[in-house]
Amino acid sequence: MSNHYFSPRPQVGSRPKQIRVRMRGREWTFLSDRGVFARSGVDGGTRLLVETMRIASADHVLDIGCGYGPVGLVAAWLAPDGQAVLVDVNERAVMLAAQNARLNGLVNVEVLQGDGCGPVAGRFFDAAVTNPPIRAGKATLRRLVREIWQQLRPGGRFYFVARTAQGARTLARDVTEVFGGARELERESGYRVYEAIKERDS
Ligand SMILES: C[S@@+](CC[C@H](N)C(=O)[O-])C[C@H]1O[C@@H](n2cnc3c(N)ncnc32)[C@H](O)[C@@H]1O
Repeated sequence: MSNHYFSPRPQVGSRPKQIRVRMRGREWTFLSDRGVFARSGVDGGTRLLVETMRIASADHVLDIGCGYGPVGLVAAWLAPDGQAVLVDVNERAVMLAAQNARLNGLVNVEVLQGDGCGPVAGRFFDAAVTNPPIRAGKATLRRLVREIWQQLRPGGRFYFVARTAQGARTLARDVTEVFGGARELERESGYRVYEAIKERDS
């Protein structure tokens, strides 16, 4: 477990790397490193999620499992009158996400280390986004879905991506159990992006 990308403290030595990528019509520069997800370049599923998610200018957005920040930071940029809160269990990812917020000139960003929605308990969001840690296992994924539901305001939207071959439809069924539905918004190169709406409050 200690050398997975979702270890709280990666054991592999640091070797930072700079990534340049165009998403939502803007150039982004991200620092990545060994011991974090998608070190060599922004993941294909992440890119599809970023291009598909619907974020309004005043949204308060929660990114669970932010890695070095590509989803949550784009969400913050799309919500200049709102804010994005990025959470990851991996301390190296959290440090990179905070650096990447500065590197890309974003001030409406908060980056927190911790497990799932623990660091934002009691706070509420208009939208939640995740490229989830599929390798953490089904029990963790189900727990994260329930926690995300708790953090959303009524009417709040949840966007997530997964590979079809890694259980995207199973995850969508789990989300449907909690949210009452999950709609496939996009499908490309083996990935599917879904939207689920929190219709009720309990
Ligand atoms: C598939 S990666 C996505 C990273 C980033 N959002 C991206 O798209 O490049 C999943 C992330 O979830 C994080 N993670 C795993 N388990 C977690 C947990 N219980 N709570 C918070 N983050 C977790 C991992 O450290 C990893 O950064």
